[in-house]
Formats: sequence, structure tokens, C-alpha cells
Amino acid sequence: MSYALTFTATETDALWAEAADAAEALVAGEPDAIANMANVAALIWQAIPDLNWAGFYRFDGEELVLGPFQGKAACIRIPLDKGVCGAAARLRASQRVEDVHAFPGHIACDAASRSELVVPIVAGDRLIGVLDLDSPRPGRFAAEDQAGAEALVARIAAALAGA
Ligand code: SME
Repeated sequence: MSYALTFTATETDALWAEAADAAEALVAGEPDAIANMANVAALIWQAIPDLNWAGFYRFDGEELVLGPFQGKAACIRIPLDKGVCGAAARLRASQRVEDVHAFPGHIACDAASRSELVVPIVAGDRLIGVLDLDSPRPGRFAAEDQAGAEALVARIAAALAGA
């Protein structure tokens, strides 16, 4: 496994497919969930353009707790009834928000964030946490980004759960 990753695809679908292949290779054989989240946050930050935050919140059985990420320092604990991340975790459904200013209860960690994509991580039937991507560009995330991020998470969910 090389750690010098390169991403060459120009189409959104193909770029996410490259990122998912690289993520699967990065976590292969590593049981530590924090290490895997750290590397995958870095990988997404490198591969996916126009992000100002990329990382993980982990579900501790009660609320979401900040995990490995790239970007500015962020809020540490998010109850499931708060924010875009809380909604994704509570509903176990991705949240793709074109304009975070229009999302009731959005938690502004970085004032530069204008759109957001949050994908829940579920392994077996267990909620592990969420993958959170923020962009300074309104409407940054297309349906293809959501599908690509969901496919990436699905492929490595066990490794993010520490299995
Ligand atoms: N905006 C998120 C909070 C996390 S930060 O964006 C990193 C939310 O509303 O859940």
C-alpha cells in the first residue's frame, strides 16, 4: 500500500470511485477505528475539491463526539436533535444541504461553510457516527457526491467501527 495517493478523475462519480478504492486499501487490515478515520479524513480532504471541513463524528451511545478531521477546530459534542450531523445520525439518512443558512438548527463551526453533506455510518445495525463534509460554496454537493460518499462509507464501515 502506497501512502502517496494521487487522484486523476475529473468526473464526480469517477473521483469518488477512486477515493473509495484508495480508502478501502488504506484501512485494509487495520482494526483501529480512530486511525482509519484519520487517514480517510485526510484522503477525502486531498481527493475532493472545494471543502473547508472533512471528518468524522463518533456516536458514543448518547451523542456525537468530534473525531478525526481536516479543517478548522470544530464543536466537540452534537446531540442527535441538533444540527445537520444530528439529523443524519438520528434518521440514519444522509443530509445534503444546499444552503446551511436555510437549515433550521444548523451548527456553524466554521463561518465559511455554506453547504454540507453528512452521511451516517452504520455497521451491522449499529450507529458508528457520521462523515461530515462542508464547503464554502453554496450547493457544492450534487446527488453524485452523496452517492459517492455513501458508497465509500458503505465499503469501509466495518473498519470505521473498529472491526
Ligand atoms: N455544521 C454541522 C456541525 C459540524 S461542523 O460543520 C464541523 C452541523 O450542523 O451538524
